[in-house]
Amino acid sequence: MSTIEKALAKQKQAEQKRSNVIDAQVPENTSTNQSTSPLPSEAINRPIQTTIDKETIVLDGEGLTDRGFIYGSSSTHHIQEEFRHIKRKLLNNAFGPAAKTLKHSNLIMVSSSSPNEGKTFISINLALSIALEQEKTVLLVDADVLRPSLHRELQFERKEGLLEYLLNKVQSISEVIYNTNITNLKLIPAGKPHHLTNELLASTKMAALAEELAQRYPDRIVIFDCPPILGVTETPVLSSLVGQAVVVVEESKTKIDDVKKAVSQLDENIAVGFVMNKTVMSKKDGYGYYGYGYNKKN
Ligand SMILES: Nc1ncnc2c1ncn2[C@@H]1O[C@H](COP(=O)(O)OP(=O)(O)OP(=O)(O)O)[C@@H](O)[C@H]1O
Ligand SMILES: [Mg+2]
Repeated sequence: MSTIEKALAKQKQAEQKRSNVIDAQVPENTSTNQSTSPLPSEAINRPIQTTIDKETIVLDGEGLTDRGFIYGSSSTHHIQEEFRHIKRKLLNNAFGPAAKTLKHSNLIMVSSSSPNEGKTFISINLALSIALEQEKTVLLVDADVLRPSLHRELQFERKEGLLEYLLNKVQSISEVIYNTNITNLKLIPAGKPHHLTNELLASTKMAALAEELAQRYPDRIVIFDCPPILGVTETPVLSSLVGQAVVVVEESKTKIDDVKKAVSQLDENIAVGFVMNKTVMSKKDGYGYYGYGYNKKN
Protein backbone atom coordinates (compact mmCIF):
# COMPACT_ATOMS: atom_id res chain seq x y z
CA MET A 1 0.00 0.00 0.00
CA SER A 2 1.44 3.39 -1.01
CA THR A 3 1.61 6.30 1.42
CA ILE A 4 -1.30 8.00 -0.35
CA GLU A 5 -3.42 4.89 -0.22
CA LYS A 6 -2.62 4.50 3.48
CA ALA A 7 -3.54 8.11 4.12
CA LEU A 8 -6.76 7.74 2.16
CA ALA A 9 -7.63 4.53 4.00
CA LYS A 10 -6.99 6.28 7.31
CA GLN A 11 -9.09 9.23 6.21
CA LYS A 12 -11.88 6.91 5.15
CA GLN A 13 -11.81 5.13 8.48
CA ALA A 14 -12.02 8.43 10.32
CA GLU A 15 -14.90 9.52 8.12
CA GLN A 16 -16.85 6.37 8.67
CA LYS A 17 -16.96 7.28 12.32
CA ARG A 18 -18.84 10.41 11.41
CA SER A 19 -22.40 10.62 10.31
CA ASN A 20 -21.92 12.76 7.28
CA VAL A 21 -19.49 13.36 4.51
CA ILE A 22 -20.26 16.15 2.12
CA ASP A 23 -20.48 14.90 -1.43
CA ALA A 24 -22.41 16.74 -4.02
CA GLN A 25 -22.39 18.06 -7.52
CA VAL A 26 -22.71 21.65 -8.57
CA PRO A 27 -23.61 22.34 -12.17
CA GLU A 28 -22.02 25.04 -14.22
CA ASN A 29 -24.09 28.16 -13.79
CA THR A 30 -26.12 29.21 -16.82
CA SER A 31 -27.87 32.18 -15.24
CA THR A 32 -31.38 31.19 -16.21
CA ASN A 33 -32.83 32.94 -13.19
CA GLN A 34 -35.65 30.47 -12.81
CA SER A 35 -36.83 30.11 -9.29
CA THR A 36 -39.60 28.33 -7.51
CA SER A 37 -38.34 28.25 -3.99
CA PRO A 38 -39.16 31.21 -1.78
CA LEU A 39 -36.38 32.43 0.43
CA PRO A 40 -36.81 34.75 3.37
CA SER A 41 -36.60 38.10 1.63
CA GLU A 42 -36.54 39.83 5.00
CA ALA A 43 -33.02 38.45 5.39
CA ILE A 44 -31.89 40.87 2.72
CA ASN A 45 -31.92 44.62 2.79
CA ARG A 46 -31.76 45.17 -0.94
CA PRO A 47 -29.17 47.69 -2.05
CA ILE A 48 -29.75 50.56 -4.45
CA GLN A 49 -26.20 50.12 -5.74
CA THR A 50 -22.96 48.46 -4.72
CA THR A 51 -21.42 50.67 -2.08
CA ILE A 52 -19.12 50.19 0.84
CA ASP A 53 -18.64 52.05 4.06
CA LYS A 54 -16.57 51.33 7.12
CA GLU A 55 -19.18 49.16 8.70
CA THR A 56 -21.15 47.44 6.02
CA ILE A 57 -20.37 45.83 2.69
CA VAL A 58 -23.45 46.14 0.52
CA LEU A 59 -23.80 43.33 -1.98
CA ASP A 60 -25.44 43.88 -5.33
CA GLY A 61 -28.01 41.11 -5.41
CA GLU A 62 -28.85 41.41 -9.08
CA GLY A 63 -25.22 41.22 -10.13
CA LEU A 64 -24.65 38.24 -7.88
CA THR A 65 -27.67 36.40 -9.23
CA ASP A 66 -26.54 37.03 -12.80
CA ARG A 67 -23.21 35.42 -12.04
CA GLY A 68 -24.70 32.31 -10.49
CA PHE A 69 -24.64 33.25 -6.84
CA ILE A 70 -27.53 32.54 -4.52
CA TYR A 71 -29.20 35.77 -3.62
CA GLY A 72 -32.78 35.65 -2.50
CA SER A 73 -35.67 34.14 -4.36
CA SER A 74 -34.46 35.34 -7.76
CA SER A 75 -31.54 32.90 -7.70
CA THR A 76 -31.65 29.98 -10.05
CA HIS A 77 -33.57 27.16 -8.43
CA HIS A 78 -31.19 24.31 -9.21
CA ILE A 79 -28.23 26.16 -7.71
CA GLN A 80 -30.20 26.67 -4.49
CA GLU A 81 -31.07 22.98 -4.41
CA GLU A 82 -27.49 21.83 -4.88
CA PHE A 83 -26.24 24.02 -2.10
CA ARG A 84 -29.04 22.99 0.20
CA HIS A 85 -27.68 19.45 0.07
CA ILE A 86 -24.10 20.44 0.65
CA LYS A 87 -25.07 22.82 3.42
CA ARG A 88 -27.13 20.27 5.27
CA LYS A 89 -24.18 17.92 5.56
CA LEU A 90 -21.86 20.67 6.69
CA LEU A 91 -24.34 21.87 9.31
CA ASN A 92 -24.89 18.34 10.56
CA ASN A 93 -21.17 17.89 11.00
CA ALA A 94 -20.87 21.30 12.62
CA PHE A 95 -23.73 21.09 15.10
CA GLY A 96 -25.13 17.56 15.04
CA PRO A 97 -23.91 14.50 16.96
CA ALA A 98 -20.80 14.25 14.75
CA ALA A 99 -19.62 17.61 16.04
CA LYS A 100 -18.36 15.92 19.20
CA THR A 101 -15.83 13.96 17.16
CA LEU A 102 -14.44 17.05 15.47
CA LYS A 103 -12.30 19.84 16.84
CA HIS A 104 -13.60 23.20 15.59
CA SER A 105 -16.49 21.55 13.78
CA ASN A 106 -17.93 24.95 12.82
CA LEU A 107 -14.77 25.97 10.95
CA ILE A 108 -14.83 24.84 7.32
CA MET A 109 -12.08 25.23 4.75
CA VAL A 110 -12.84 25.17 1.03
CA SER A 111 -9.98 24.12 -1.20
CA SER A 112 -9.09 22.06 -4.26
CA SER A 113 -6.06 20.24 -5.53
CA SER A 114 -5.21 22.90 -8.13
CA PRO A 115 -6.11 26.51 -8.93
CA ASN A 116 -9.26 27.62 -10.71
CA GLU A 117 -11.54 24.70 -9.87
CA GLY A 118 -14.19 26.87 -8.23
CA LYS A 119 -13.15 27.27 -4.58
CA THR A 120 -14.31 30.86 -4.37
CA PHE A 121 -17.55 30.17 -6.25
CA ILE A 122 -18.38 27.33 -3.86
CA SER A 123 -17.29 29.28 -0.76
CA ILE A 124 -19.50 32.24 -1.61
CA ASN A 125 -22.52 30.15 -2.51
CA LEU A 126 -22.21 28.06 0.61
CA ALA A 127 -21.98 31.17 2.74
CA LEU A 128 -24.95 32.80 1.00
CA SER A 129 -26.98 29.62 1.16
CA ILE A 130 -26.43 29.22 4.89
CA ALA A 131 -26.94 32.93 5.61
CA LEU A 132 -30.18 33.16 3.68
CA GLU A 133 -31.90 30.04 4.84
CA GLN A 134 -30.69 29.23 8.31
CA GLU A 135 -30.73 30.95 11.62
CA LYS A 136 -26.97 30.52 11.82
CA THR A 137 -24.61 33.39 11.19
CA VAL A 138 -21.89 32.83 8.60
CA LEU A 139 -18.47 34.41 8.50
CA LEU A 140 -16.79 34.12 5.11
CA VAL A 141 -13.02 34.58 5.23
CA ASP A 142 -10.83 35.20 2.19
CA ALA A 143 -7.88 33.05 3.22
CA ASP A 144 -6.53 32.86 -0.32
CA VAL A 145 -4.32 35.75 0.64
CA LEU A 146 -1.88 35.46 -2.25
CA ARG A 147 -4.60 35.47 -4.89
CA PRO A 148 -7.60 36.95 -3.12
CA SER A 149 -10.79 37.20 -5.11
CA LEU A 150 -13.67 37.55 -2.69
CA HIS A 151 -13.69 41.32 -3.22
CA ARG A 152 -13.72 40.83 -6.98
CA GLU A 153 -16.46 38.22 -7.00
CA LEU A 154 -18.62 40.10 -4.51
CA GLN A 155 -17.68 43.43 -6.06
CA PHE A 156 -16.50 45.49 -3.17
CA GLU A 157 -13.36 47.56 -2.81
CA ARG A 158 -10.31 45.96 -1.26
CA LYS A 159 -10.26 46.53 2.46
CA GLU A 160 -8.07 45.79 5.40
CA GLY A 161 -8.56 42.18 6.32
CA LEU A 162 -6.96 38.95 7.43
CA LEU A 163 -3.41 39.96 6.53
CA GLU A 164 -3.55 43.20 8.49
CA TYR A 165 -4.74 41.20 11.47
CA LEU A 166 -2.00 38.59 11.11
CA LEU A 167 0.58 41.38 10.75
CA ASN A 168 -0.70 43.09 13.92
CA LYS A 169 -1.72 46.15 11.95
CA VAL A 170 -5.14 46.05 13.53
CA GLN A 171 -5.72 45.40 17.20
CA SER A 172 -8.56 42.97 17.09
CA ILE A 173 -10.17 40.67 14.55
CA SER A 174 -13.47 42.48 14.98
CA GLU A 175 -11.91 45.46 13.19
CA VAL A 176 -11.77 43.47 9.98
CA ILE A 177 -15.06 41.61 10.30
CA TYR A 178 -17.46 43.49 8.07
CA ASN A 179 -21.21 43.34 8.23
CA THR A 180 -23.06 42.97 4.95
CA ASN A 181 -26.58 43.84 3.90
CA ILE A 182 -27.43 40.17 4.43
CA THR A 183 -28.12 40.09 8.14
CA ASN A 184 -26.50 36.72 8.81
CA LEU A 185 -23.46 37.14 6.59
CA LYS A 186 -20.20 38.70 7.70
CA LEU A 187 -16.95 38.93 5.76
CA ILE A 188 -13.23 39.09 6.41
CA PRO A 189 -11.46 40.16 3.21
CA ALA A 190 -7.89 39.05 2.54
CA GLY A 191 -6.31 42.47 2.95
CA LYS A 192 -3.25 43.86 1.24
CA PRO A 193 -0.72 41.27 -0.02
CA HIS A 194 2.56 41.14 1.81
CA HIS A 195 5.85 39.44 0.97
CA LEU A 196 5.15 36.79 3.62
CA THR A 197 1.58 36.41 2.47
CA ASN A 198 1.07 32.64 2.43
CA GLU A 199 3.52 31.99 5.27
CA LEU A 200 1.26 34.00 7.55
CA LEU A 201 -1.45 31.39 7.11
CA ALA A 202 0.79 28.92 8.92
CA SER A 203 1.61 31.33 11.74
CA THR A 204 0.77 30.81 15.39
CA LYS A 205 -1.39 33.93 15.16
CA MET A 206 -3.52 32.22 12.52
CA ALA A 207 -3.88 29.17 14.76
CA ALA A 208 -4.91 31.43 17.63
CA LEU A 209 -7.44 33.13 15.37
CA ALA A 210 -9.02 29.80 14.46
CA GLU A 211 -9.26 28.97 18.15
CA GLU A 212 -10.79 32.35 18.88
CA LEU A 213 -13.36 32.06 16.09
CA ALA A 214 -14.33 28.57 17.19
CA GLN A 215 -14.64 29.52 20.86
CA ARG A 216 -16.13 32.97 20.58
CA TYR A 217 -18.72 32.11 17.96
CA PRO A 218 -19.62 28.45 18.45
CA ASP A 219 -22.99 28.99 16.72
CA ARG A 220 -21.41 30.60 13.70
CA ILE A 221 -20.22 28.80 10.61
CA VAL A 222 -16.85 30.11 9.45
CA ILE A 223 -15.93 29.38 5.83
CA PHE A 224 -12.33 29.85 4.73
CA ASP A 225 -11.83 30.30 0.98
CA CYS A 226 -8.32 28.79 0.84
CA PRO A 227 -5.47 28.50 -1.66
CA PRO A 228 -5.16 25.19 -3.51
CA ILE A 229 -3.59 22.26 -1.69
CA LEU A 230 -0.90 21.06 -4.08
CA GLY A 231 2.11 23.33 -4.14
CA VAL A 232 0.94 25.57 -1.28
CA THR A 233 2.39 24.12 1.91
CA GLU A 234 0.30 26.41 4.10
CA THR A 235 -3.02 24.94 2.96
CA PRO A 236 -2.44 21.57 4.67
CA VAL A 237 -1.41 23.54 7.77
CA LEU A 238 -4.74 25.34 7.65
CA SER A 239 -6.49 21.97 7.57
CA SER A 240 -5.22 21.30 11.08
CA LEU A 241 -7.06 24.40 12.32
CA VAL A 242 -10.52 23.51 11.01
CA GLY A 243 -13.01 20.73 11.60
CA GLN A 244 -14.17 20.22 8.05
CA ALA A 245 -12.83 20.54 4.52
CA VAL A 246 -14.73 20.84 1.28
CA VAL A 247 -12.56 19.75 -1.63
CA VAL A 248 -13.77 21.16 -4.93
CA VAL A 249 -13.24 18.92 -7.92
CA GLU A 250 -13.78 20.24 -11.43
CA GLU A 251 -15.61 17.66 -13.46
CA SER A 252 -13.71 16.29 -16.46
CA LYS A 253 -10.65 18.32 -15.57
CA THR A 254 -9.26 17.49 -12.16
CA LYS A 255 -7.00 14.43 -12.20
CA ILE A 256 -7.96 11.76 -9.69
CA ASP A 257 -4.30 11.32 -8.71
CA ASP A 258 -4.14 15.00 -7.85
CA VAL A 259 -7.24 14.68 -5.68
CA LYS A 260 -5.72 11.70 -3.86
CA LYS A 261 -2.43 13.51 -3.39
CA ALA A 262 -4.23 16.62 -2.14
CA VAL A 263 -6.46 14.77 0.32
CA SER A 264 -3.50 12.84 1.70
CA GLN A 265 -2.01 16.15 2.78
CA LEU A 266 -5.04 17.23 4.79
CA ASP A 267 -5.26 16.65 8.50
CA GLU A 268 -6.57 13.15 9.05
CA ASN A 269 -8.88 14.12 11.91
CA ILE A 270 -11.16 16.42 9.96
CA ALA A 271 -14.29 15.63 7.97
CA VAL A 272 -13.58 15.82 4.26
CA GLY A 273 -16.23 16.10 1.60
CA PHE A 274 -16.16 16.62 -2.13
CA VAL A 275 -18.08 18.93 -4.36
CA MET A 276 -18.05 18.12 -8.04
CA ASN A 277 -18.13 21.50 -9.71
CA LYS A 278 -19.00 22.71 -13.19
CA THR A 279 -20.87 19.53 -13.97
CA VAL A 280 -22.26 19.12 -17.46
CA MET A 281 -26.03 19.34 -17.57
CA SER A 282 -28.92 18.49 -19.77
CA LYS A 283 -31.65 20.88 -20.87
CA LYS A 284 -35.27 20.37 -19.95
CA ASP A 285 -38.40 22.49 -20.13
CA GLY A 286 -36.50 25.26 -21.82
CA TYR A 287 -34.19 26.03 -18.98
CA GLY A 288 -31.24 24.46 -17.28
CA TYR A 289 -32.30 21.48 -15.28
CA TYR A 290 -29.57 19.62 -13.52
CA GLY A 291 -29.69 16.44 -11.59
CA TYR A 292 -27.58 16.07 -8.52
CA GLY A 293 -26.05 13.11 -6.84
CA TYR A 294 -23.66 12.02 -4.23
CA ASN A 295 -20.15 11.30 -5.10
CA LYS A 296 -19.17 8.92 -2.36
CA LYS A 297 -15.53 8.87 -1.56
CA ASN A 298 -14.00 5.45 -2.05
N1 LIG B 1 -20.39 26.09 -11.07
C1 LIG B 1 -19.90 27.12 -11.77
N2 LIG B 1 -20.64 27.66 -12.75
C2 LIG B 1 -20.17 28.69 -13.48
N3 LIG B 1 -18.98 29.27 -13.33
C3 LIG B 1 -18.20 28.79 -12.36
C4 LIG B 1 -18.61 27.70 -11.53
N4 LIG B 1 -17.61 27.45 -10.66
C5 LIG B 1 -16.64 28.35 -10.93
N5 LIG B 1 -16.98 29.14 -11.96
C6 LIG B 1 -16.17 30.21 -12.59
O1 LIG B 1 -14.88 29.66 -12.85
C7 LIG B 1 -13.87 30.60 -12.55
C8 LIG B 1 -12.97 30.04 -11.47
O2 LIG B 1 -13.73 29.90 -10.29
P1 LIG B 1 -13.18 30.35 -8.87
O3 LIG B 1 -12.57 31.71 -8.94
O4 LIG B 1 -14.26 30.12 -7.91
O5 LIG B 1 -12.04 29.26 -8.74
P2 LIG B 1 -10.92 29.17 -7.63
O6 LIG B 1 -10.67 27.73 -7.42
O7 LIG B 1 -11.33 29.97 -6.46
O8 LIG B 1 -9.71 29.85 -8.38
P3 LIG B 1 -8.32 30.31 -7.71
O9 LIG B 1 -7.49 29.08 -7.59
O10 LIG B 1 -7.80 31.32 -8.69
O11 LIG B 1 -8.67 30.91 -6.38
C9 LIG B 1 -14.57 31.88 -12.12
O12 LIG B 1 -14.71 32.70 -13.24
C10 LIG B 1 -15.93 31.39 -11.65
O13 LIG B 1 -16.93 32.38 -11.79
MG1 LIG C 1 -10.39 31.53 -5.46
